[in-house]
Amino acid sequence: MIQNNMTETFFTELELELRKGTSKKGHPFRYFTLATIGQGNIARLRTVVLRRVSEDFKLIFYTDRRSKKIEHIKENSKVSLLFYHPKQLLQLKIEGKAEIISDSEALQKYWSGVQPTSRKDYTTSNAPGTPISNPDTVEYLEDKNYFTIIEVTLSKIEYLKLKRPNHLRILFSKGDGDWDGEFLVP
Ligand SMILES: Cc1cc2nc3c(=O)[nH]c(=O)nc-3n(C[C@H](O)[C@H](O)[C@H](O)COP(=O)(O)O)c2cc1C
Repeated sequence: MIQNNMTETFFTELELELRKGTSKKGHPFRYFTLATIGQGNIARLRTVVLRRVSEDFKLIFYTDRRSKKIEHIKENSKVSLLFYHPKQLLQLKIEGKAEIISDSEALQKYWSGVQPTSRKDYTTSNAPGTPISNPDTVEYLEDKNYFTIIEVTLSKIEYLKLKRPNHLRILFSKGDGDWDGEFLVP
């Protein structure tokens, strides 16, 4: 999977930590910051939950398909992701391409795994971000949802670990199917 042996162990480590983010309770990689740039040339950032890391290393999160981020991704599918592990002082800066999954079979499969209490996040009568006069008056739909899956295919991962005596910074880039790693001045 990776071409440079010197950096391979760090790639293995970061992949493992990302997978733990979806499975280990309390792991800081459960959440990441997603950045999009749609029209207007402004970076828009928000926290989302890392739901799954696929076999072929795509990162998956859920959202409401009426949300602004969907609009931005349709305008520009290039996204950045930021993960931070405070105990390990480990940061991952990731670049990739987001794909909005619209295949109804896939959506149904994932939807059936969403906890009933969390389903309301995707069933508000009005779109997320609509102004309301009182936070207790949000209405929910019974028979419809706006649940959507976003899959991010990764092209660059920058690993940075602050430690003594030397910080460690490595850029992993995806070539023709393989990841290549190079050390950078931290
Ligand atoms: C802890 C936390 C987890 C969140 N997880 C998600 C998520 O998985 N998917 C999502 O669409 N929004 C999630 N949000 C809300 C987003 O940060 C954001 O406010 C919302 O999606 C609207 O963003 P947008 O208008 O840019 O689309 C989360 C917020 C917090 C604080």
